Amino acid sequence: MNTEKSRQIADDSFRVSTSGDVEVSTYLEIAKGISGEKPVKIVEAVPGAEREAIIVIDFGSQYSLLIARRIRELNVYCELVSHDTPWEKIAQLNPRGFILSGGPASVYEACAPTIPSYIFENSSPVLGICYGMQALTRQLGGEVARGLKHEFGHAVLHISSVDSPLLANLPESITVWMSHSDRIEKMPPCFESLAYTENSPVAVMGNNNRIFGIQFHPEVVHTPQGKVILENFVYRICGCHDNWTMGNFVLDSIEKIKEQVGTGKAINAISGGVDSSVVATLIHRAIGNQLTCIFVNNGLLRREEAERTLNVFRLNLGMNVIYVNATDRFLECLKGVTDPEQKRKLIGGEFIKVFEEEAKKLGEVGFLAQGTLYPDVIESISSVSNASVKIKTHHNVGGLPSNMTFKLLEPLRYLFKDEARQLGMELGLPEEMVWRQPFPGPGLAIRIIGEVTREKLEILRAADWIVMDEIKKAKLYRHLWQSFAILTDVKSVGVMGDYRTYGYLIALRAVTSNDAMTADWARLPYDLLARISNRIVNEVALVNRVVYDITSKPPSTIEWE
Ligand code: XMP
Repeated sequence: MNTEKSRQIADDSFRVSTSGDVEVSTYLEIAKGISGEKPVKIVEAVPGAEREAIIVIDFGSQYSLLIARRIRELNVYCELVSHDTPWEKIAQLNPRGFILSGGPASVYEACAPTIPSYIFENSSPVLGICYGMQALTRQLGGEVARGLKHEFGHAVLHISSVDSPLLANLPESITVWMSHSDRIEKMPPCFESLAYTENSPVAVMGNNNRIFGIQFHPEVVHTPQGKVILENFVYRICGCHDNWTMGNFVLDSIEKIKEQVGTGKAINAISGGVDSSVVATLIHRAIGNQLTCIFVNNGLLRREEAERTLNVFRLNLGMNVIYVNATDRFLECLKGVTDPEQKRKLIGGEFIKVFEEEAKKLGEVGFLAQGTLYPDVIESISSVSNASVKIKTHHNVGGLPSNMTFKLLEPLRYLFKDEARQLGMELGLPEEMVWRQPFPGPGLAIRIIGEVTREKLEILRAADWIVMDEIKKAKLYRHLWQSFAILTDVKSVGVMGDYRTYGYLIALRAVTSNDAMTADWARLPYDLLARISNRIVNEVALVNRVVYDITSKPPSTIEWE
């Protein structure tokens, strides 16, 4: 198909795709309105709502969630919504400004997502990033075209309008991160170019200090001054206040939980992990002993983990905790099982049975608390990025038993992991708990390759203890996303005290990551690796060899099973 024709088709479908909404011609009218030629219809946020929010309209960029994170780091509440979310829902959030994310589409593609009409009808400021900028250009009557070459990676941005509030507090030129093919050929009416790069004559554009477009990504670390631009947008342009703090969040949440639960009872499964601990503590602050925590020891925990968790919850925090040592049940269930997914399924199923039995003993319970975090929520509702194939069933042991009729209490639903940690600190949880590395629900069962037995669990616990001890002594614990030992099903020959040994192989895994979606193997110092290896072969019976896993994710995963 020739380019002219494909473009014509794309143009036509663009009109069709927006026909239920607002047509291009209408946007042009709106554009005139924005430029002051014609009044715009103003749709405002719900009056009286206390919390200000910046709304990120998601067009499917891999960085969309990162934008929301960056804004929250500025102490301004921010939510990510799909581009087809209805205005009624968004109005409830009390938006003070909109950010249009990047995305994989080209504005001329037939199914390219479009900017919803309320963005133009609302008087709040708008910042389009990459695709967001191109969509603004297209819908407001400008022209977007293929760039002469792809602009990917670092570029130097030259600021031509030093007076623009978006570019305040920046030097004349800065390094920015680009990732685009299309570029702005002609700006929409009444927009002016505020900055340029070698390949993008319009790398930043603005209109009356209300609508802005930027071609690069301010949210990524590769744009070192990106935070200044986002700061300018939320404070100078949108007029937001920096009042999204964990202290305020605690006060707000306590009121909400009290209101929701009333005089009812709630239960919560705790594991000792950050999320369930923070959720339990927050809810306990709100409703005290109306909350009962259930702690199921599945026999797959690390050394001293059960005792430590119980002590913190019962003694330090004074909570009602039902402790169930179900080790025998779980190990019986796992007998002879070697398949990783089968292990996960059996452990999850058994957990639900134990949990249900204990919950029944409590009589009428109306609420189940869960430590669901914002990335989980986004993943489950995302309209654009759900094409991934199942690699592993990451069921969360402690998740919702499917046939139980509780109402859910999910006070961390809108928090990122680092915010949940801040909240834990705010609530006075011990640092050790707040900064605990993630530990999978199926526990050591997925770190023992092959069948899980008591003997193997003891070996792995002893090795894992040494890894943790040495990593902590080296002050690397918080810098690593996870660091642990794996008991492989390989045996190899060794020599100890002139005798031949035939022992187990322990693998070490230490990774850095932001969200576990991707991970890099940690470049641990050789001396540290040597100490760990030396201690394991000397202190752990039946192990005579230690190896270090130097693969990243992808292509590997973090856990071995
Ligand atoms: P992978 O191995 O897929 O792990 O790279 C990514 C993150 O998820 C954790 N993980 C689990 N967590 N149940 C859990 O609750 C599971 O079955 C499970 N499998 C992996 C893993 O520890 C890492 O943090």
